[in-house]
Amino acid sequence: MTDRISVREAGHGTPLVLLHAFPLSSRMWREQLDELPGADGSEARVLAVDLRGFGGTELGDDEPSLDLLADDVALLLDRAGIERAVVGGLSMGGYVAMALARRHPDRLSGLLLADTKATADTEQARANRERVAAAVLARDSVRLLVDEQVPSPLLGATSVRERPRLEERLRAMVEEASPRAVAWAQRAMASRPGSLDVLAGVQVPALVLVGEEDAITPPSDAEAMAAVLPDVVLTVLPAVGHLSAMESPDAFNWAVRGLLARVEASG
Ligand code: MLT
Repeated sequence: MTDRISVREAGHGTPLVLLHAFPLSSRMWREQLDELPGADGSEARVLAVDLRGFGGTELGDDEPSLDLLADDVALLLDRAGIERAVVGGLSMGGYVAMALARRHPDRLSGLLLADTKATADTEQARANRERVAAAVLARDSVRLLVDEQVPSPLLGATSVRERPRLEERLRAMVEEASPRAVAWAQRAMASRPGSLDVLAGVQVPALVLVGEEDAITPPSDAEAMAAVLPDVVLTVLPAVGHLSAMESPDAFNWAVRGLLARVEASG
């Protein structure tokens, strides 16, 4: 366990834990922290976590594993005095949310899976992750990642064309990532198992959300997850790519409010 998990927090309502994409940080959730608590501050208590090695959380010395990140979230809930929370992750954050659903199902009151997938990596994807991990460590720089991922495929085609300031914001965030954390996370993601069986057993309301232009985890991945979740709403956001929460925060937040309402209605 890391001793200190850095969290940005806002609001006082239903606990909502947000887990960021790779290789970003809790800073990607700016509009969710600003808007989801609601005008009177009572709709949601948003906790945006920095996963190990990113933002303000130290990497530590453990071997790469998404299960550790899920255990970190459970520990964070313990420390915050939160028994159950709506747990939401985007892409890598979604993988961690699924690991949490496997290891700590009793901590979930709802599940948000955005621009992510429940299948394990192919051999080719694993090899590519190892290539990136080795290169950033050897060069002690994340330049390669910036060149290969920003703006595409992280942003959708519409955002690349029409949202230049978003590209700047994203580039700055990726440049902030440390080579050690990038390599660690790549190796952790490479060894994750498939989670469709876990999703089939999720007993709480779920939202699966995806950008129509997501080139990393396309709508077909979202459909596969929605097909097995027992209580699910699937939302496809038009003109949006992989980073839906940043590319179209209003539509993203509207869909999340719907999930929060379902969670409150369920008990
Ligand atoms: C992410 O956005 O977190 C990554 O694209 C996830 C991945 O590399 O599988």
